[in-house]
Amino acid sequence: MEEVDHQEFVQEPQHRPSLSTIEAQGIPVIDLSPITSNNTSPSAIDALTKEIGSACKEWGFFQVTNHGVPLSLKRNLLEASKKFFSQSLEDKKKVSRDESSPSGYYESEYTKDVRDWKEVFDFFAKEPTLFPATIDEHNHRVVQWTNKYPHYPPAFRDIIQEYIEEMEKLAYKLMELIAMSLGLEAKRFERFFIRGQTSFIRLNYHLALGVGPHKDESALTILAQDEVEGLEVKRKTNQEWIRVKPKSNDYIINLGDIIQVWSNDRYESVEHRAMVNCESERFSIPYFFFPAHDTEVKPLEELINDQNPPKYRPYKSGKFLLYRMINDFKKQNKDNLQIHDYKLA
Ligand code: OGA
Ligand code: NI
Repeated sequence: MEEVDHQEFVQEPQHRPSLSTIEAQGIPVIDLSPITSNNTSPSAIDALTKEIGSACKEWGFFQVTNHGVPLSLKRNLLEASKKFFSQSLEDKKKVSRDESSPSGYYESEYTKDVRDWKEVFDFFAKEPTLFPATIDEHNHRVVQWTNKYPHYPPAFRDIIQEYIEEMEKLAYKLMELIAMSLGLEAKRFERFFIRGQTSFIRLNYHLALGVGPHKDESALTILAQDEVEGLEVKRKTNQEWIRVKPKSNDYIINLGDIIQVWSNDRYESVEHRAMVNCESERFSIPYFFFPAHDTEVKPLEELINDQNPPKYRPYKSGKFLLYRMINDFKKQNKDNLQIHDYKLA
């Protein structure tokens, strides 16, 4: 058969259907090969940056392919996670989270004060992770948190550490693209993470109800899910819930509250939830990319001016996260802290 040059079928960008038309059925799918393959060009990176920019603006959610993370890592971690959760409650409780660190196993989580039906295991990406000792603004004491690792399955620690390394690489790449899409220098965000990031990874085991509607308080979240669907995203244009179809080798990326503040609302953190039916259990693994605890989160200077004044007053990343962590585990009689609470009139 004659070789066909596919290049001639590729339309000029302005004649291609817009992202929203292609993805009317779901969130945008973005091919990261311009930054993960060897043969790349400035124009390919430029096109990718634009694609990221419109996905961030229109959706706040997208899937990535050709992201450079070996599929075996995700498979191994999902498998290890299944093995861990299949143990007896008694065995799982041997690595329960406690006063010494929020890393570990727990059975119930409250999202916005409603109990979710799920089991969870949290690990910090860095050991130790520095955190404020209390949520009190005037208390500057810092504590060091370390991880608990389950004994079963045996290779868990290596699997999770290898996976976290890859997530971090991907997160930095995505933050560069997002920075460029906002007209900032590529490494603009790096300084907030390079020393003392408080990122963590969560193994979710959803039994029935999954996770209630919420926005992530991270800068960015990279989600891996198994083949059982359930994730739903609230579409910004019409407020409809859109089901995200799991693709075995893709990751789902969503913007969190911190990017919303940094970008002074140019990009928004989007509401999402996980719905699970009664018959099937579901495993998912979000990696939450967080800056150092003492980062003062506020709209970036480059993105504000007289016409576009800052919409938020500064807050400390670690104090905010600690408040949410405490609140997410206990039923509180008051509303949870939201970035909205830092909004300037
Ligand atoms: C979360 C979350 C979604 C999912 O844990 O923050 O949004 O699909 N999870 O498990
Ligand atoms: Ni979430």
